[in-house]
Amino acid sequence: QPLVGLVGWRGMVGSVLMDRMQAEGDFGLIEPVFFSTSNAGGKAPAMAKNETALKDANDIEALKKCDIVITCQGGDYTSEVFPKLRAAGWNGHWIDAASTLRMNDDAIIVLDPVNLPVIQNALAKGGKNWVGGNCTVSCMLMGVGALYKAGLVEWMTSMTYQAASGGGAQHMRELLTQFGTLNAEVRALLDDPKSAILEIDRKVLHKQQNLSASEIANFGAPLGGSLIPWIDKDLGDGMSKEEWKGGAETNKILGQGAGFGTAATPVDGFCVRIGAMRCHSQALTFKLKKDVPVADIEAMIAADNPWAKVVPNTREATVKDLTPVAVTGTMDIPVGRIRKLAMGPEYVGAFTIGDQLLWGAAEPLRRMLRILLE
Ligand code: HSE
Repeated sequence: QPLVGLVGWRGMVGSVLMDRMQAEGDFGLIEPVFFSTSNAGGKAPAMAKNETALKDANDIEALKKCDIVITCQGGDYTSEVFPKLRAAGWNGHWIDAASTLRMNDDAIIVLDPVNLPVIQNALAKGGKNWVGGNCTVSCMLMGVGALYKAGLVEWMTSMTYQAASGGGAQHMRELLTQFGTLNAEVRALLDDPKSAILEIDRKVLHKQQNLSASEIANFGAPLGGSLIPWIDKDLGDGMSKEEWKGGAETNKILGQGAGFGTAATPVDGFCVRIGAMRCHSQALTFKLKKDVPVADIEAMIAADNPWAKVVPNTREATVKDLTPVAVTGTMDIPVGRIRKLAMGPEYVGAFTIGDQLLWGAAEPLRRMLRILLE
């Protein structure tokens, strides 16, 4: 069985990956080697077979023995270790959750239900570097990739509602701490049904504006009861890095744009952090190349892959099935609110949601592993 090195398996994305690999029986097909950046020599988790001690994740010689390395350790680890490993002559497959290598010419962004032909083409040419996409982009394409595959999209905007988990585990804790602090501030008033709502509102606002530095250490601003319309770095041209990824990665996943000698599809919009836990939501506007009936659009989306689910565009279905709470922890990618917009028959709106730790992070990696094992 191929030797598969696992790095960063204890963190949030790594833990979700381990769960999914166990659920799908992936460990039955590999000889896992668990690496650690901090606890080399410690005991490997129960999925270990022959190698029951943790290896040092910075030990190039130990990594070199692996046929495949999967890392969820983060971008700093990739920057540090990947070049050394390749320089040492390692020719194995590197599967990575971090964005570090994503836009390199020799790296493929893996999302096989959407871009299996791109993956297979790279494999045939000896490709070895496989990187998971930005969570928002992957979830969006799992939902509406059908319209891209059919060549129908002239352009698309994506206005996002991104969950705290996109920042990391500490961000989720910070959001909940803020909610707790705000609730505690007005609990007595909430318990009194006769209290004045504007007094509650005033006290909450005062608290939000005066949260301690430690209560906003990760987000840099209050998020509980508010939102932050900027995610990731400031590129200096008015765009956030998250917004840039929307266009750049969508096109790269689809195998189109400058790097492929074809025209890119313009994809742009604003990325907004909201107080959801781990599902990213997005309001999409499409300009289609032609007038396609809504029923046809729904049928294409529903038929594209087993996880995209069309939610009927009714209030009842939307409130029940098209929320982060309904989707969290599931592999489903619901797509709802599909309707023609007032601008004209080629303009279509849709709203989609995905668990950013599943299709947004862990799942494409383990599926790439399975492709390599075929
Ligand atoms: N950049 C994403 C976010 C996370 O902050 O929500 C994963 O790509």
